[in-house]
Amino acid sequence: MKTSQDIRRDFIEFFEGKGHTFVRSSPVVPLDDPTLLFTNAGMNQFKPIFLGQAEPAQPRAVNSQKCIRVSGKHNDLEEVGADHYHHTFFEMLGNWSFGDYYKAEAIEWAWELLTGVWGFEKERLWATVHDTDDEAARLWREVTDIAPERILAFGDKENFWEMGATGPCGPCSEIHYYIGEDLGRMKAVGVNAEADYREIWNLVFIQNNRLEDGSLGDLPARHVDTGAGLERIVGVLQKQTSNYSTDLFAPIIEQVAQQTGRAYSVNDSGTPHRVLADHVRMLTFSLADGALPSNEGRGYVVRRILRRAARFGRMLDQHEPFIYKLVDTVVDIMGAAYPEIVERQEHIKKVIQAEEISFGETLDRGLELFTKITAPLSEGDTIPGADAFKLYDTYGFPLDLTELMARERDLEVDSAGFDEAMASQREQARAGGGQAAQQEEVPWTTVKEGTGSEFLGYETTTATGQILKYRIISDKWIDVVLDRTPFYANSGGQVGDTGTLTGGGLELHVMDTNKQVVEGRTEIVHRCHPIKGTIAGPIELEATVDASRRQAIRLNHTATHLMHKALKVVLGDHVHQAGSHVNSDKLRFDLTHYEKVTLEQLTDVERMVNDVIRDNSKVSATEMPFDEAKASGAVAMFGEKYGDRVRVIDVPGFSRELCGGTHVERTGDIGFFKITSESALAAGVRRIEAVTGEGALAYVRRQEALLSELSGELNAPPAQLTGMVRQQRERIKTLEQQLRSAADRSNRDLAGELLAKALQVDGITLLSDRVEVPEMDAFKDLAVAVKRRLESAVVVLGTVLQEKPSLVVAVSDDLSGKIPAGDFIKTVAREINGGGGGSPTLATAGSKDAALLDMAMSRVPDLLAAYLQRTQS
Ligand code: ALA
Repeated sequence: MKTSQDIRRDFIEFFEGKGHTFVRSSPVVPLDDPTLLFTNAGMNQFKPIFLGQAEPAQPRAVNSQKCIRVSGKHNDLEEVGADHYHHTFFEMLGNWSFGDYYKAEAIEWAWELLTGVWGFEKERLWATVHDTDDEAARLWREVTDIAPERILAFGDKENFWEMGATGPCGPCSEIHYYIGEDLGRMKAVGVNAEADYREIWNLVFIQNNRLEDGSLGDLPARHVDTGAGLERIVGVLQKQTSNYSTDLFAPIIEQVAQQTGRAYSVNDSGTPHRVLADHVRMLTFSLADGALPSNEGRGYVVRRILRRAARFGRMLDQHEPFIYKLVDTVVDIMGAAYPEIVERQEHIKKVIQAEEISFGETLDRGLELFTKITAPLSEGDTIPGADAFKLYDTYGFPLDLTELMARERDLEVDSAGFDEAMASQREQARAGGGQAAQQEEVPWTTVKEGTGSEFLGYETTTATGQILKYRIISDKWIDVVLDRTPFYANSGGQVGDTGTLTGGGLELHVMDTNKQVVEGRTEIVHRCHPIKGTIAGPIELEATVDASRRQAIRLNHTATHLMHKALKVVLGDHVHQAGSHVNSDKLRFDLTHYEKVTLEQLTDVERMVNDVIRDNSKVSATEMPFDEAKASGAVAMFGEKYGDRVRVIDVPGFSRELCGGTHVERTGDIGFFKITSESALAAGVRRIEAVTGEGALAYVRRQEALLSELSGELNAPPAQLTGMVRQQRERIKTLEQQLRSAADRSNRDLAGELLAKALQVDGITLLSDRVEVPEMDAFKDLAVAVKRRLESAVVVLGTVLQEKPSLVVAVSDDLSGKIPAGDFIKTVAREINGGGGGSPTLATAGSKDAALLDMAMSRVPDLLAAYLQRTQS
């Protein structure tokens, strides 16, 4: 029987035989398409070609694309695990024609591969076409030997394929395969209706573009975009009605069963196994391509899937992290085809484990709350939005998890109410936010129709350029786009340049530079403060980058590459860039690593980078095709893809990375590299900051100044400071001890003095006086000490602490029944307009009026006498 590896290879080789070029899968995390959270089809990476914005490198392509469908237009999440053939992550086998062959070949070859190479039974195959596409229907009859009654027509819902809300689209022709046991029961109405008819391949004839306003435009050329689900094809060829029983999933299912001790079943009770096997693949591939769990956007999708998986784990009685252990099996199955998951295996496991730990802390309590919320509800009832929001906000339950659990009990969730609760919380959080978003809506004035901006900043920091367009945002801000500019636009972690634009009586200070892509053209936008003049008509401007700032940025950027390499050497190959930010003051680098980088390791990294700096190697930047760069050993960041021409920054004998940023000419230009901090950023991600050149020198000077200030304060040379501080710490400890025993002594002395002032009130020994004490504890201690020495007595002391009068009453045990301290003190406290209380043997009171204290103390004997009379009568 063919393995999934064989089948993937068959497909690629078949189309290579038909003149197609193999193109590797683009990452599942598309970095340059804001309309998509995840790659959802093989054609995503070719979108610019279809739209006529990019030239294809070759007219025909074939690949196996990693896809994720959990959000947006194509979302299969709810079916996953409940059925046997939908997945959050799957591989799409595809062949493409870029303005080359069209419907006839697409249909003929699909049929040839299915029936000729793979031996799909013709009598189980069905073809569908769009009900307006007579051409496709005719071609099916002409170029294949499919029985004519097996060609069915459907409307837009089934046979017009679109990638998302906008973008390339067109009528399609699908191929379905009947997997039922009894051929006699197969019938046309089952297609697109019953689970036994599996859609296995979709041939899309891309000829339209869905625009923002919902209308349909025509594309400049006609293309073919096909997609066959590898998992389903493998299912058929391995004679399995469940994808989970193929070699793509079975080992993961088995691993789930083994780890949980719960046997797998193909029935409903096997849903948790299937969901876990599915979700761990999605997690593995999205984390490998640079996604990280977070609370928004793509990161939140990852987190949702993880939490969903964790909850299914609970159904198998797993209360400790275990999903991360399934990653090894995924890597065993898929690592050969997708080496990135092998490279990032450790990182993936650490991130999943950390998420499992943190969600594990609230999951059980959330489940309890869910049970409580739903206990009074019965079938068909609705969980209020506020409750769903509480589960989300306090226990981290994504809405779709709550909905899923609700469905399991035939309950609904008020998702509108949830949205409202969320919106009102956001509103509160946002109160006082900026109006930045509005600025972006100011329209542009076009001065000259252009071709986008040419970037000249690798070679120069001054150049002249024509204004293409501008917009006046306010009297303080103007955006300007030139046809040529040396200004580097914020990208790849490097900040945008600043400087000036001058000419024709106009003077603008450029405060920031950013990039935008308009109709496939890249425009470099200078965000400026107007200083002099106004823009009127086409003028040529002298664009001058703040060269010293740019130079500082270059130092930091090249140093970032050196540090990245050094981190890999010192910490290991699992280190990858998870983010970076380079400006003129410092560089910041986020790396995949799961524990604190020790001081020793940081020192090694610092030493290695400074060695390379002193080697003063020539840094070169060369443009080349991506695959050539990768073959030459260049380290790719997340997100490059097929067809890209990339820039390789090479430090001979040390590092080789893809990068579009600006770099130094020789490593020696960096001068000096110093790490300033290391910290945890997220699970499995650390952040390191460093400085270079002048900045590093300034940092060292600041440290030195601090040291010398300290040295002055402590009156010791720097080398002796540590010893000095240690000595002082010891000395303080000794002094504190001495102070404590002196206080005890003085308390004892004071107690002795006070004893003489005791008097008798109705046969009871009373001692009352005003005293001076340093603080409250000493005050109470004194009263207790006096009481002990008098043996049987009532002690009332008053004092003023921080300008407020305080009283303490201590009563010996034998008298505490008759004159409870906590009660008697109230009588005295009234004299100072205060209140207090305590136990029968010790009580305290206070007020604000210190002036009343002396009078109150002088009245204590009378107060006691009155108290005794009152309580004994
Ligand atoms: N792009 C088409 C699909 O995803 C092939 O179904």
